[in-house]
Amino acid sequence: MAADSSDSTQPLLRVEGLNQYYGGSHILRQLSFEAKLGEITVILGRNGVGKTTLLKSLMGVVAVKTGSVKLDGVDITKATSYERVRLGLGYVPQGREIFGRLTVDENLRMGLATKPAGTAVPAQLFELFPVLKQMINRRGGDLSGGQQQQLAIARALAASPKLLMLDEPTEGIQPSIIKDIARVLRRLADTGLNGQKMAIVLVEQYYDFAEELADQYLVMERGEIVQRGRGVDMEAEGVRAKMSI
Ligand SMILES: Nc1ncnc2c1ncn2[C@@H]1O[C@H](COP(=O)(O)OP(=O)(O)OP(=O)(O)O)[C@@H](O)[C@H]1O
Ligand SMILES: [Mg+2]
Repeated sequence: MAADSSDSTQPLLRVEGLNQYYGGSHILRQLSFEAKLGEITVILGRNGVGKTTLLKSLMGVVAVKTGSVKLDGVDITKATSYERVRLGLGYVPQGREIFGRLTVDENLRMGLATKPAGTAVPAQLFELFPVLKQMINRRGGDLSGGQQQQLAIARALAASPKLLMLDEPTEGIQPSIIKDIARVLRRLADTGLNGQKMAIVLVEQYYDFAEELADQYLVMERGEIVQRGRGVDMEAEGVRAKMSI
């Protein structure tokens, strides 16, 4: 029976025994975790531990070698990225990857690729990120780094995902915009875009931001999850020290 997405005790995302390789190197080792609606799952780990590889595997950008990925009870291990987006995955890649020569409006429309022609960009996006409304006809490349990050998040939200995955959204962003992004992510997890809770998987190296938002945390080292727990226990469980060495 498929999990009922309105039941927040059922995980929306279930990853089991995931392994990934680049050539001969074993990059992800036997990863298993779950993400629930209404919760922010933070994945912490230093440079090169495999965080981006994990998100790319979940998005189908790189093919999963062994293990399984289920979304709302549906096995998506072999699904294409397009199918995953259609089924409710949203992805904000590391480095943002917005289209610099396209306008803000055109970038947002790119996020609607899996929707029927004529589908409008959800108006609530401009409530979450008012700056995008002001800049709607500017080119993406003319925005500040923080504005581009907000655009990348809004583009991922355009298709109204159930699960939003973000790869180091605070990288190179000014503190005031980091605060705005934190507020938006909390609100999305709690009430989503249209009153439907969302699950968020947030990859981060910036400890304070991660701790503020984490309902659940996972720590990765060399392709493995070496520690996990509830967000409220992160400090007591010594995660800050792990990240600052
Ligand atoms: N396309 C690739 N081909 C071969 N090796 C790769 C490739 N991409 C990443 N790697 C290697 O895989 C490992 C994990 O990389 P990954 O980018 O997933 O780490 P990360 O945790 O996201 O790091 P960062 O915090 O710097 O973004 C690293 O050793 C990296 O050098
Ligand atoms: Mg990375």
